[in-house]
Amino acid sequence: MSDAIDLAALPHDFRWGTATSAYQIEGAVAEDGRSPSIWDTFSHTPGKIDNDDHGDTACDHYHRWRADVALMSRLGLNAYRLSIAWPRVMPDGDGLVNPKGLDFYDELIDGLLAAGITPSVTLYHWDLPQALQDRGGWPERETAEHFAAYASVVAERLGDRVSHWTTLNEPSCSAWIGHLEGKMAPGLTDLTAAVRASYHLLLGHGLSAQAIRAATSGAEVGIVNNLSTVFPASDSPEDEAAARRHDGHVNRWWLDPVHGRGFPADMREVYGVDLPERPGDLDIIAAPLDWLGLNYYFPATVADDPAGPVPHARSVRRPDVTRTGMDWEIDASGIETLLLRLTHEYGARKLYVTENGSAFPDTVGPDGTVDDPERQDYLVGHLAACASAARKGAPLAGYFAWSLLDNFEWAYGYAKRFGLVHVDYATQARTIKGSGHRYADIVRAHGELGRGAA
Ligand code: IFM
Repeated sequence: MSDAIDLAALPHDFRWGTATSAYQIEGAVAEDGRSPSIWDTFSHTPGKIDNDDHGDTACDHYHRWRADVALMSRLGLNAYRLSIAWPRVMPDGDGLVNPKGLDFYDELIDGLLAAGITPSVTLYHWDLPQALQDRGGWPERETAEHFAAYASVVAERLGDRVSHWTTLNEPSCSAWIGHLEGKMAPGLTDLTAAVRASYHLLLGHGLSAQAIRAATSGAEVGIVNNLSTVFPASDSPEDEAAARRHDGHVNRWWLDPVHGRGFPADMREVYGVDLPERPGDLDIIAAPLDWLGLNYYFPATVADDPAGPVPHARSVRRPDVTRTGMDWEIDASGIETLLLRLTHEYGARKLYVTENGSAFPDTVGPDGTVDDPERQDYLVGHLAACASAARKGAPLAGYFAWSLLDNFEWAYGYAKRFGLVHVDYATQARTIKGSGHRYADIVRAHGELGRGAA
């Protein structure tokens, strides 16, 4: 089935990687000076997370990172997307730097480089220091300013070895799910706070891009958004308008400002919340991007929902479609559509698929293997769609499978397994799943093309 992927459409120096994030895998939440983040607080609030799971130990990657890097080597990967925990580096969110926190990432980066794996570093994957939340969090402008100061500290320390930087991961989840829907930290349901958070997240993106570039030379800076293809549930004008609003909410609100187009006027009207704008902010937000990251999981079909929450578009469950264990619809064509949209509508010069993957309820069989045919199909189908986009002109430079390991899947706790590697949380034993082996085969086949093999 790997034959289905037009590997020759991908550049010879394509980055083949996996992605993780700090809170989802590290554990060691109280070690070496790390302070609590909003996710420690949220996950320890009864009823917020399935099974009341939390990230206290997670995959214990903080202590086992060497073995995890060895797993990447076994898979033949040449890249790894990780995130830095702000509360390890600056426990109060601002001010004093915790040297031990930086030391951890310093060693990890060296370990990756020694294994021939290029690190791609994300500065914010949702773990805001609780101390900053106590001072208002992302709805306040000072959080964006502190984020830039933290970015500068990390870039100064790692910038001699790291050139690939992501400012924010999926800011729409931070703003909308965290401040409007209340299903992620900090758990607010407040439209004004959510819109203000969205603004300051993007301001923080622009300020931190400046800070990274000031602290290091040769940085390639990008932002990672989770985007969806959006379809109206019917061809009624109401549903079509709802689809346009949903697209504005999940896609355009996050893409337009960083491309110098400002915040979409139609969505400003839908939200009806004054943005905390100051002169010059839009230019900061539109800092030049070296690349754009796409996280893609599922498409959305929506119907008009005038009485529902913003953006007044209700998700419609389509019958008879294949779904993952998250109940997310599988549609590989969406990743191609979005890569081409970023290319043509936003003029992207370089693209990475920074996350893509699927959860299924995997188990280790009696023979010690993990057979996950559905995830293999998902992987191959989406890689085929990526290669097709590249063939049609999308400047795709890499693909990072979500995720290296099964890990803490936020509000779903440990029940949802996205890894190419199975984790037994009782023993921390790692087992490469069938999909991990399949991914390794694809990576190897692509490398052989470059070496002139048939
Ligand atoms: O686990 C998350 C990740 O942290 C952000 N993107 C989506 C993944 C799967 O839900």
